[in-house]
Amino acid sequence: MAHKITLIPGDGIGPEVADATVRVVEAAGVGIEWERVDAGIAAERATGKYLPDTVYESLARTSVGLKGPVGTPVGGGHPSVNVALRKKLDLFVNFRPVKMLPGLKTRFADLPVDLVIFRENTEDLYAGIEHEVVPGVVESIKIITRMASIRIAKEAFKFAAKHNRRKVTAIHKANIMKMSDGLFLRCCREVAADFPQVEYAELIVDNACMQMVMRPETYDVLVLPNLYGDIVSDLAAGLVGGLGIVPGANLGDTVAVFEAVHGSAPDIAGKGLANPTALIQSACLMLDHLGERVAATRIRRALEGVYREGKHLTGDVGGSSGTAAFTDAVVSRL
Ligand code: NAI
Repeated sequence: MAHKITLIPGDGIGPEVADATVRVVEAAGVGIEWERVDAGIAAERATGKYLPDTVYESLARTSVGLKGPVGTPVGGGHPSVNVALRKKLDLFVNFRPVKMLPGLKTRFADLPVDLVIFRENTEDLYAGIEHEVVPGVVESIKIITRMASIRIAKEAFKFAAKHNRRKVTAIHKANIMKMSDGLFLRCCREVAADFPQVEYAELIVDNACMQMVMRPETYDVLVLPNLYGDIVSDLAAGLVGGLGIVPGANLGDTVAVFEAVHGSAPDIAGKGLANPTALIQSACLMLDHLGERVAATRIRRALEGVYREGKHLTGDVGGSSGTAAFTDAVVSRL
C-alpha cells in the first residue's frame, strides 16, 4: 500500500529541491501518494495565510511530512512558519545527523565527522516572547522547562543507547544563565544517570564551538537547547560541505516532519543551482521512519556513489552541475 505523505515545497529553493527529492524517492521504487500543500509565500498569495489550516489538516491525515524551507522576514513581518508548525504540532525533537560524504573535498575532509544533534525544538528564546519595556529597552524571554529538557535529553540518550554511540554531550551556558541553562543541565544529568552505558559530558557553548572546529571527531551525540542547537547545527554543517548536505527531522509523539537544515537560499533561488542532497537525505530519514529501510539504503548508496565519483556535483560543494544534472546522476544509479 502506498504511504500518504504531506509534501510542503516551501519558498525560494524549496520547490526545486522538493521536486528533485520526489524524483529520487520515486526512482527508488517506494509507493508514495504525495499530498501537496503550500506554506509560505505561495500559501499567502492563495489564501492570505502563510500557514493555512490545510497544512495541519493534511498532516493530521498523513502523520508524516516532507518540507522545504519557508522564509521568515528579518526584524519585522510575520512570525516564523517553521517555529509555529513545530510548536503547534509539538515536534519537540530536532534530529540532525551530520556526516561526511565520501569524496567531498572540504577543509575537514580528513576528519571522520559523524555526529548527531538533538536540538530542543519548542521553547528557549524561540518562544518569541518579546516586548518593549520602555523606548530603547526590549526584553526577550528565554523559557526553559523541566518537561521539555527531560524529554529531549531522553531522546538523545535513547538514540545513543540504541545505536551504540559512545557519548552524549550536553551544550549549555549555565555559567551565565545559571537558572535556565542550569535547569537544562540538571535534567540532562538526571537522564544520564539512567544510561550508565553511555558516557556523558558537558561543554559550555562557546568552547563547544571551538572544539567542534578543532576536534570534531571528539563529538558523538549532542543535546542542546533550541538556540544553541540552531547555531551549532550550521557550524557542524560547515564541517561536512555546508548547508546543502545536512538533513533533519522534526519529531513529535504522533507527527514527524522531515526537512533540511538549510533555509530558502534566496541568493540562488530559481536558478537551478541548489544542492538537493540535504532534502534527499531528509527523505532517507523519512523512509527509515516509514520502515522503508531498503529504499533508504539504496538512495544513500546512490548519493555516496555520485559524491565519490565527483563529476556531477553542485557549485556549493565545488562542482559545476546544477540541481537537475545532479539529480539525474543520483536517479541513474537507482
Ligand atoms: P540559508 O540556509 O537559506 O542560506 C545560507 C547560505 O547557504 C546561502 O549562501 C545559500 O545559498 C546556501 N545554501 C543553503 N542551502 C543550500 C542548498 N541546498 N544548496 C546550495 N546552497 C545552499 O540561510 P539564510 O540565508 O540565513 O536564510 C534565508 C531564509 O530562509 C530566511 O528567511 C530564513 O528565515 C529561512 N530559513 C528557513 C528555514 C526552514 O524553513 N527550516 C531554516 C533556516 C532559514
